Amino acid sequence: MSDRIKKLFVFVLSIGFLGWSLLLFPLTARADGLSEKHIEEISNLWQKSAHAFADVNCSSCHLEPETKQLIIAPNHESCQSCHERQVETFLLGKHGIRLQEGLSPLTPAMAHLPMKEAASDRQMNCNTCHDVHSVNTFTASVNSCLTCHNDTHSLNYVKSKHGLLFTEAKLLPAPTADLVSCATCHLPRQRVEGTKTVFVNHNNTYNLLPRDRMVKDVCMNCHGMEYSYNSIFDDELVKANFDAPPTQYLETLEMVKAFEKKRGGTED
Ligand code: HEC
Ligand code: HEC
Ligand code: HEC
Ligand code: HEC
Ligand code: HEC
Ligand code: HEC
Repeated sequence: MSDRIKKLFVFVLSIGFLGWSLLLFPLTARADGLSEKHIEEISNLWQKSAHAFADVNCSSCHLEPETKQLIIAPNHESCQSCHERQVETFLLGKHGIRLQEGLSPLTPAMAHLPMKEAASDRQMNCNTCHDVHSVNTFTASVNSCLTCHNDTHSLNYVKSKHGLLFTEAKLLPAPTADLVSCATCHLPRQRVEGTKTVFVNHNNTYNLLPRDRMVKDVCMNCHGMEYSYNSIFDDELVKANFDAPPTQYLETLEMVKAFEKKRGGTED
């Protein structure tokens, strides 16, 4: 892109979306080889997004706030000022930790777990699960995961009761707390301590070990303690992504119950 066009780009960005759409698109499109149609598609997605309703516009992500430099392909740092917790937690889990350590982004080619062949070179960042222009959280919660993950457990989700109920609810604007997606278990919603604010913990490693953590943070929002423990410690049921009620009975549960009773807990 020539300097002249860059300066113009930055100027228009600074006057907001209207400026961008009226003046800039045809110019940048030519300069960058992006078709006008593509940019129009992006604007259409954005116009219907939660961001547009909250006055988060093109320049919120595409303009470096201090230097006013244009950023063509923003990364997680562009989200940080508004979504600090999501960025922080993302960087702590397997998905984001390479970025935290200054390495190249995680790709499926680096994985031990089975991954979709076609996704080998996809780089992990905020925009990998979120189409950043539509920020549709339904797509992010299941479909995005399955563009990469290809193990038995992941593939079995779709036909589980959780999965069927989730698919049925797709006409809602966003997944609600009574649905179970991949993200419900692996990117759990958490309350900011001492407040009513709930956010999505983006650390995908957080809930895996020990598995009790997922029982308390996730399952017990809907199922009883016994049902939850008996399900989650059954490796076959995990593999089948919980496609049937639990059949095993954990004796240690008796011990947990006795302990809670002794401590004066009300759990039964
Ligand atoms: C929430 C932040 C955010 C907002 C708001 C946003 N963008 Fe983007 N945009 C991004 C990110 C992140 C990328 C990089 C995507 C990638 O690398 O695949 C991007 C990529 C692009 C690209 C590069 C082409 C492409 O498809 O990768 C264009 C053009 C673009 N955005 C235009 C716009 C326009 C026009 C608006 C306003 C209508 C807008 N963006 C609003 C974050 C945003
Ligand atoms: C200037 C502040 C700002 C920036 C920068 C920003 N966002 Fe947002 N984002 C918001 C606001 C405000 C909302 C609406 C919050 C709400 O409804 O609670 C939102 C909502 C969202 C949602 C939820 C959408 C929904 O339907 O509930 C996602 C996902 C999201 N942003 C992702 C991103 C990503 C990814 C980036 C960086 C590429 C980004 N945002 C950059 C302010 C921002
Ligand atoms: C592995 C996929 C994935 C990645 C990577 C990802 N997200 Fe998300 N994000 C989701 C899903 C799924 C939801 C919705 C979960 C739900 O509704 O329970 C979500 C929800 C959100 C929300 C709205 C809900 C909230 O309060 O947290 C914001 C904001 C958000 N993400 C920002 C980001 C940012 C910023 C990044 C990059 C640091 C990012 N996401 C990376 C999958 C992802
Ligand atoms: C761009 C591809 C991609 C997408 C999209 C993606 N993942 Fe991953 N995920 C990976 C890779 C690669 C790994 C590392 C696997 C390995 O090391 O064997 C991983 C690891 C994981 C792990 C294991 C974490 C650990 O600490 O062992 C979980 C759980 C996970 N992903 C869940 C999800 C969920 C849920 C979604 C959707 C909300 C999702 N992933 C979206 C590529 C992806
Ligand atoms: C009801 C909760 C639940 C749902 C829904 C769910 N998972 Fe899991 N997932 C688990 C549990 C429990 C484990 C086993 C954790 C362990 O091995 O300790 C697991 C393991 C994984 C692992 C392997 C981690 C490893 O290192 O071996 C990946 C990857 C994964 N899930 C991805 C997904 C994806 C993708 C979806 C949606 C298509 C999904 N999960 C849906 C609960 C769930
Ligand atoms: C948001 C609520 C919710 C959460 C959280 C939740 N579930 Fe469920 N679960 C349901 C609903 C609803 C059903 C379907 C019940 C029915 O149809 O009888 C279900 C069904 C099941 C079934 C039986 C499937 C079948 O085919 O009969 C198992 C096993 C199960 N869940 C285990 C878990 C485990 C383990 C967790 C935590 C990792 C968990 N669930 C988290 C709501 C939830």
